[in-house]
Amino acid sequence: MRFVDLIEKKADGFSLSKEEIEFMVNGFVDGSIPDYQMSAMMMAILQKDMNDQETADLTMAMMYSGETVDLSDLPGVKLDKHSTGGVGDTTTLVVAPLVAACGGTVAKMSGRGLGHTGGTLDKLESIPGTSVEIPLQRFKDIVRQCGVAVIGQSKDLDPADKKMYALRDVTATVRSIPLIASSIMSKKLASGADGIVLDVKTGTGAFMRTVEEARRLARTMVSIGTLTGRKVTALITDMNQPLGNAVGNALEVKEAVELLSGKISEADPLYEVCMLLGTHMLLMAGIANSSEQAQAMLKEKITDGSGLKRLQQMIALQGGDASYLCVEQMERLTSVRKVIDLPALQDGYVTSMMAEKIGTAAQILGAGRAVKSDVIDPAVGLVMKVRVGDQVRAGDPICTLYVNDDTHLEEAKKLLYEAVTISDTKQKGNPMIHEVITAENL
Ligand code: URA
Ligand code: CA
Repeated sequence: MRFVDLIEKKADGFSLSKEEIEFMVNGFVDGSIPDYQMSAMMMAILQKDMNDQETADLTMAMMYSGETVDLSDLPGVKLDKHSTGGVGDTTTLVVAPLVAACGGTVAKMSGRGLGHTGGTLDKLESIPGTSVEIPLQRFKDIVRQCGVAVIGQSKDLDPADKKMYALRDVTATVRSIPLIASSIMSKKLASGADGIVLDVKTGTGAFMRTVEEARRLARTMVSIGTLTGRKVTALITDMNQPLGNAVGNALEVKEAVELLSGKISEADPLYEVCMLLGTHMLLMAGIANSSEQAQAMLKEKITDGSGLKRLQQMIALQGGDASYLCVEQMERLTSVRKVIDLPALQDGYVTSMMAEKIGTAAQILGAGRAVKSDVIDPAVGLVMKVRVGDQVRAGDPICTLYVNDDTHLEEAKKLLYEAVTISDTKQKGNPMIHEVITAENL
């Protein structure tokens, strides 16, 4: 097989066979296919697309390029959830312990934040002592004991994805749907889950700007599940404004603790998305037989405090100080040098919010990283005080900033004023949940 012929085949719009795709992935990982040929192939894929079978074959070839995690000795359906990246998206810290409290097995490998989006590992590490680098055997023991553990992906997982992503980043091929879908799904499959609920974000703060693009990505990933023998459900949810109000590591943990303590209204978007994610995880595991039953179970675990107790137990088993994890103690983790309210500059209604700019504002205050080597300040960030549709008066706070280092404070404020548009006519926010795509309704 000559790789140049495969590039030509794809550039002419033909599909590649499983053997050809394996030849490509293996050759690229072992260095026999150089970057310039792989760049040309990825551009051909971006332009001519891949069908569902090719995308599933690519996913499997990438998954088997490195270590794969075997969770088969854990009880039940091994559940995972994944968000394509959002701002103020604290769902894992809420849903994983709630589902475990309902009897689910949640063995989750998460990522770190980069750019305007946050990462679950960074949020967990804002709780003193918590380790997210735990050997596999210990990880499984923790899951056996409390039904849930969240750790970082092993460095040896999916080397094909690391190499392909680095090349996509500099060849304008990141946005290809089969390349995004195989990148996400190969890591999820390699992590050993057999049931995965995906939260595909759409809007100004997301990779997929329109619902149509998000739907294509969601359908592609659900189809990969079907073709590889895993259960996959995808939600399409709105990221035109931050999901929760808090953006920043300890601030988001605090919001999760508040939700698990019953302090956040059922009408809140974060609550709504957490419920839907949890519902589909329980349905997938066969723990609930209907959405109504699943929701009732999840709500009960908030009311009786057992969801919060699971989070505390998980953190303690991962080496963290769980005494912080109650509403009364969380202030200790979010104490900073300066707390600043940002006032609205005019009367009116909030008509739009740009989640990406809000995420970037939190990042430059020290809550996130511009490059992988940046160090995070766990306490800093911001809490939004308004949502799209809210009425405000000049002088009312639209946002509260938590600041230690004010080097970029003025820049952060400027971004926030750009992000939040206030005008005279009231406008309704988008619905939070756009669609749910399952293998059955694919
Ligand atoms: N997230 C990933 O892991 N890969 C992509 O290609 C895009 C988003
Ligand atoms: Ca996230």
